[in-house]
Amino acid sequence: MKYKRVKGTRDILPQEWILRESIINIVKNTAYAFGYGEMTTPILEEAGLFIHSVGDSSDIVTKEMYTLVDKAGRNLVLIPEGTAGICRAFLEAKMTVWPKPVKLFYLQRLFRYEQPQKGRYREFSQFGVECFGSKSPSSDAEMISLAHTILKKLHFSSLSLHINTLGCDQCRKEYREALIRYFQSFESSLCEDCRVRLKTNPLRILDCKKPECKNCVAQAPKIQPYLCDDCKEHFQSVLETIDALDIPYVVDHELVRGLDYYTQTVFEFISRDLGAQGTVLGGGRYDGLLEKELDGPSMPAIGFAMGLERITMLLETKRSDLELRDVDPMLYIANFGGTTAAQSLQIAQDLRYHGINVLVDFEGKGMKKVFETAEKRNAKYLIVIGEEEEKTGIVSIRNLQTRQNKEIDFESITTYFLKGDLNEF
Ligand code: HAM
Repeated sequence: MKYKRVKGTRDILPQEWILRESIINIVKNTAYAFGYGEMTTPILEEAGLFIHSVGDSSDIVTKEMYTLVDKAGRNLVLIPEGTAGICRAFLEAKMTVWPKPVKLFYLQRLFRYEQPQKGRYREFSQFGVECFGSKSPSSDAEMISLAHTILKKLHFSSLSLHINTLGCDQCRKEYREALIRYFQSFESSLCEDCRVRLKTNPLRILDCKKPECKNCVAQAPKIQPYLCDDCKEHFQSVLETIDALDIPYVVDHELVRGLDYYTQTVFEFISRDLGAQGTVLGGGRYDGLLEKELDGPSMPAIGFAMGLERITMLLETKRSDLELRDVDPMLYIANFGGTTAAQSLQIAQDLRYHGINVLVDFEGKGMKKVFETAEKRNAKYLIVIGEEEEKTGIVSIRNLQTRQNKEIDFESITTYFLKGDLNEF
């Protein structure tokens, strides 16, 4: 083979698309029920947008961005996440003056130069939602309720919701200093990345998966004592509301998320069945992003994104629980070439116009082979058009399950399928 897929990318074959389509239908319909509207942003954006929003100390910006310079010398990236582009578009389309809350969702392909492994790719897809304009803790709870409802409709029962608060800028400042003091005494035991994080963003050390860092993190100071009254109250109220909504959760003090824009509530839904890449959905509040990093107005916001590859992998074993498109042919038409092939295509064209899946065989096989192939392709009915059928205009439809036949004239075939009369035999 001369060419192969680029490392970390995937081909999505029809079988997987059937599952993906069903997932997309569920997520879209649920988002619409929560009052969200769909939008799309470009895959190419200016690099600066992510440096300022996702943060110049994040792994995404420091190690994982696909950057390119276009012919006019612009520094662009293949977008590594969806939130920053939505925020840019929110400002550019002047959604700031729309009635609040502004609720948006997107399905987006994203690019991160990560080490590929099960559930982690360099090109992947997310379903994401962003809600602008409400500071209320009920908005956080509603966001979690949307994620929970989607996962419930996808028949997930064993995902656990981890939730934490990162406080506001003020409480985080003191917490950050406490973390620096604590981790400085372990500096030599930290991994190389975390030694840098100690200077740039010590909170991120809490999230490091390396065993040497995990040991140090266990005794690290927690954010709770550093929270201001507003942040404490906000978090308490979020937890009480999700309790009232009967959504189980664990408060996870080590959850910090990998992007710099978060403030207060952060959350993730985690599966035990995906190994190290167990987070299927993650999000949080980012009240400061539009104003501080993108020169926008003060605008509270919250959102999450769900990885479609991880969800699809988990659902692969649960295909029977989902309503999937039936791709097997309803009717298989065999013929003997020439005018009988044209006649077959005429019948097929009419049925297909009405959405009925028809497979026409152009190979002029013998009868035995025709039966075998029709059964192998899981066709439900079979007709064979030969000279005799062409002359009389009457054909025998064979039900491949009951193995019974029924005579019918060409003109009535479509009506017959549409009326469902075929079920009679
Ligand atoms: P994130 O945690 O970076 O958040 O990604 C969200 C989800 O995308 C992850 O939980 C995972 O399912 C999937 N994902 C991430 N990286 C990969 C990868 N390399 N391969 C496959 N799947 C992946 C964000 O992107 C934020 N923008 C979410 C958000 C929206 N926060 C607020 N609003």
